[in-house]
Amino acid sequence: MGVIAIGSIITGTGSFLPETRLTNQMLEQMVDTSDEWIVQRTGIRERRVAVDMQAIDVALPAAQRALDDAGRKAEDIDLIIACTVTPDSFTPTLSCALQDKLGAKHAFAFDLSAACSGFVYATDVADSYLRCGKAKCVLIVCAEVLSHLIDYTDRTVCCLFGDGAGAAVYEWSDTEDGILGTYMRSDGKNGNALFAPAFAAENPLAMPRENKTSHYLHMDGKTVFRFTARAVPDAIDGVLQQAGMDISQVDWIVPHQANMRILDMVIRRYGLPAEKVFSNLEHVGNTSSASVPICLDEMRQQGLLKNGQTAIFVGFGGGLTYGAVLIRL
Ligand code: COA
Repeated sequence: MGVIAIGSIITGTGSFLPETRLTNQMLEQMVDTSDEWIVQRTGIRERRVAVDMQAIDVALPAAQRALDDAGRKAEDIDLIIACTVTPDSFTPTLSCALQDKLGAKHAFAFDLSAACSGFVYATDVADSYLRCGKAKCVLIVCAEVLSHLIDYTDRTVCCLFGDGAGAAVYEWSDTEDGILGTYMRSDGKNGNALFAPAFAAENPLAMPRENKTSHYLHMDGKTVFRFTARAVPDAIDGVLQQAGMDISQVDWIVPHQANMRILDMVIRRYGLPAEKVFSNLEHVGNTSSASVPICLDEMRQQGLLKNGQTAIFVGFGGGLTYGAVLIRL
């Protein structure tokens, strides 16, 4: 008798990038930087910015595309999880705004805040709901308008981040095994290395930390880089161990797109062919939680993902948070 496979599978993906491009050449006119510095240190050549748009405006088309790709209607969704560090309001949440705009009348909705690890954490939550039978169809939407958080006179951050949204539909399958392992970790001790206050400095009572003068994003790049160099291999090794697999059984690594040097480190450490580690960093930049689902959607559109292949999604960033998911596609 054969092994019966059951699990959480991705049935649809969608993404949305705003039209306006911000190239390295344009940044050269805004701050003391150069295309050469940015490309050498990060691999990024351009990013998109959501001019006159809010998080809901990038989230909605990505969500709708994922539902269409899955062949699902809004009424089929049981749960919406939205991930964002740039919500339009604390309440209502982005997920509830999406529930309304999509017309997902049977869904309950909440936001999950894990910065660049958002999609990976949300996948773990979706898998848990599907696994225990409390949901059959979960929509995850990761949407970021990071340009709202960026001081475009601060060269240490303005060349890194971009805007966009990615979404995925997860469903329970009685015939496919889908998610094979998840591995989540946090490092709150070093959280201030990537810091965006909830309120601006004008309200002293609301300031959660000292020495912060605005609502802008601050990053201690070196500390975050050192964290990432530890976190990414720990996440990959951890999820492989959990699934009882080794790296040779994995077809794709889909990491959060923060820096080309981090992706190169993964390639070298695991002796992988470069094309197994997907990257769209060059034209999208770092879109925080949206980066992994945008990659997935690009990969599906390019016909790269084949049924039965395996992939590891890796998230790492603000919190500090990190984690990985191992999935059979
Ligand atoms: N253009 C030109 N020079 C710049 C610059 C820019 N955009 N940004 C910083 N510099 C300068 C610095 O001021 C510094 O100058 P100094 O030596 O005179 O002080 C020099 O370049 C080196 O800066 P440093 O911060 O040490 O560079 P780096 O090699 O660490 O690269 C990052 C910076 C941000 C690219 C890198 O630290 C990084 O990728 N960090 C991790 C990001 C990440 O993983 N994020 C995940 C979560 S979102």
